[in-house]
Amino acid sequence: MPFRDNTTLAQYLLAESRKNPDIGTDLVALILDASRACKLISKLVAQGALANVLGKAEGVNVQGEEQAKLDVMSDDTFRRSTEFGGHVCAVASEEQDEPVPVPPEYPRGEFLLLYDPLDGSSNIDVNVAVGSIFSVLRMPRPGKEAVAEDFLQPGTRQVAAGYAIYGPSTMLVLTVGNGVAGFTLHPLIGDFVLTHPNITVPAQTQEFAVNASNSRFWEPPVKRYVEECMAGTEGPRGKDFNMRWIASMVAEAHRILMRGGVFMYPRDTKKPLRPGRLRLMYEANPIALIMEQAGAAASTGTERILEVTPSDLHQRIPLIFGSREEVERIEAYHRDSAIPKADTPLFNARGLFRAAL
Ligand code: F6P
Repeated sequence: MPFRDNTTLAQYLLAESRKNPDIGTDLVALILDASRACKLISKLVAQGALANVLGKAEGVNVQGEEQAKLDVMSDDTFRRSTEFGGHVCAVASEEQDEPVPVPPEYPRGEFLLLYDPLDGSSNIDVNVAVGSIFSVLRMPRPGKEAVAEDFLQPGTRQVAAGYAIYGPSTMLVLTVGNGVAGFTLHPLIGDFVLTHPNITVPAQTQEFAVNASNSRFWEPPVKRYVEECMAGTEGPRGKDFNMRWIASMVAEAHRILMRGGVFMYPRDTKKPLRPGRLRLMYEANPIALIMEQAGAAASTGTERILEVTPSDLHQRIPLIFGSREEVERIEAYHRDSAIPKADTPLFNARGLFRAAL
């Protein structure tokens, strides 16, 4: 059944639940609760200094990172918007050390909700796009008190994943396992309206996103890939590439869903004890599910993100996602044990990307 003009998020979800009995009304209601959190956060972000929401908060999060005021407010908004409905058993957030159970006065549901309430928070004070990311899992021990181990399920078990981007317009992009749909927040009616049905990512691209200031710390496969892109028409790829870096992963993911591209925050040696920058459970997994559902791919370089067995709620992971053929190429470079160690012209002492010694 084709969607009508002005199909709302609620109508889209009800249509999906009629097609697939696994998408029950509880899941629909939970996603609508999460979307309401995103609307509220979007209002806070849009008001900026007028609502006194810019600047730092007092605390640091579990990763030891300074929290922005909006990190704390968004975290609170996400939890309060989703714990009341009776659909979740517990939530886990980037901003909370441990899972937060639903307070005893509310009924407990069958789902676990994970979120990064405000991704890209270094961009808040400079008025650049930020976002929220969420992932829904089933509680493996229904009726019990959820503990961190209950959340440690591979990304393949996600029943839904989405993000909101707070840019020039606010959008919600979502998968419930049947492709990816994008909704734009209608400022007059306050509903998310389906504007981007069946989003698909082109398999090839000429655009990559990476924080190139880390290049001296990269491993050889990533150096090789970027070097080849930078060599343009004269290099082995035979075409020029464009580079982008917004420093909001949600915004990079959105650009890739709209026009293709590849994003890399690979493992590097800058902080040797840290396997990557981004978090598996509430950043990499939901974005990986969305990418795969849109025909793209997501990998650590050596493993499909969705098949990684998690060991910690806040674990970090190397993350490479986007146009399928590019991700496969980067994976092939990782497999290629014969790669010479950073001895190519762009990485030598006088090259653009000097190799770490
Ligand atoms: O959540 C982490 C994050 O803000 C991502 O949104 C973004 O891709 C990355 O960090 C930016 O990292 P860097 O500050 O190294 O550019």
